[in-house]
Amino acid sequence: MTANPICVALDTPSLEKALALAAALAPHVGSVKLGMEFVAANGPDGIRAVVKTGAKVFVDLKFHDIPNTVAGAVRETAKLGASILNVHATGGSAMMKAAADALGNANPRPKLIAVTVLTSMTAEDLAALGISAMPLEQVVRLAKLAKASSLDGVVCSPQEITAIRAACGKDFLIVTPGVRPAGADLADQKRVMTPGEAVRAGADILVIGRPITGASDPVAAAAAIAAECEAAR
Ligand code: C5P
Repeated sequence: MTANPICVALDTPSLEKALALAAALAPHVGSVKLGMEFVAANGPDGIRAVVKTGAKVFVDLKFHDIPNTVAGAVRETAKLGASILNVHATGGSAMMKAAADALGNANPRPKLIAVTVLTSMTAEDLAALGISAMPLEQVVRLAKLAKASSLDGVVCSPQEITAIRAACGKDFLIVTPGVRPAGADLADQKRVMTPGEAVRAGADILVIGRPITGASDPVAAAAAIAAECEAAR
């Protein structure tokens, strides 16, 4: 596990707000995540500006397209200074291999991870897509496919960590959103655990957004979650 497992999701269209949060939260988190909302509003220059603060940046654009298109997107995102970037495992093995190849000998080489089943989805949501497997079974299937396609790890619910560790080994990076401190609002997240439980289950990185950024005191919220993680080790 990295020194501080918290990756705070800066889900805001405001570059100013993202920079202020990155600076204020730096002592209490290990990395920051920039996703679709931030990138749609601020583009590559916005990513560069956050990378320039010295923060480790997870660029979460969840690419899902034909192999050639995803390979190009991964190559360009890596050039922006991302430490972690991702694709959807459901894009398939050829797409994931093309993405991994696109990183080539990039130095430093970002970690490339695959989204398995979104933590906002339930067994009923999968059934509506024609997938009869339970979320756990589907997540483990996609994690094995990601590993076999040369990816460094996966995004999954903390509820699936134990099964993925057993299937993919201790060096496979496990990144978990769906983390909620006890009593916090779940919002649209469905398959959740507390930060302490996720750390005990073996998560490498916990992606946490609204419980920190939506708190009346984000720094205090991050510090409390960091302390919970530390105590759980
Ligand atoms: O605010 P919250 O803690 O729910 O934020 C979670 C973050 O993790 C969001 O930025 C969301 O885009 C991301 N996420 C993800 N994969 C999932 C679920 C959420 O990357 N399966």
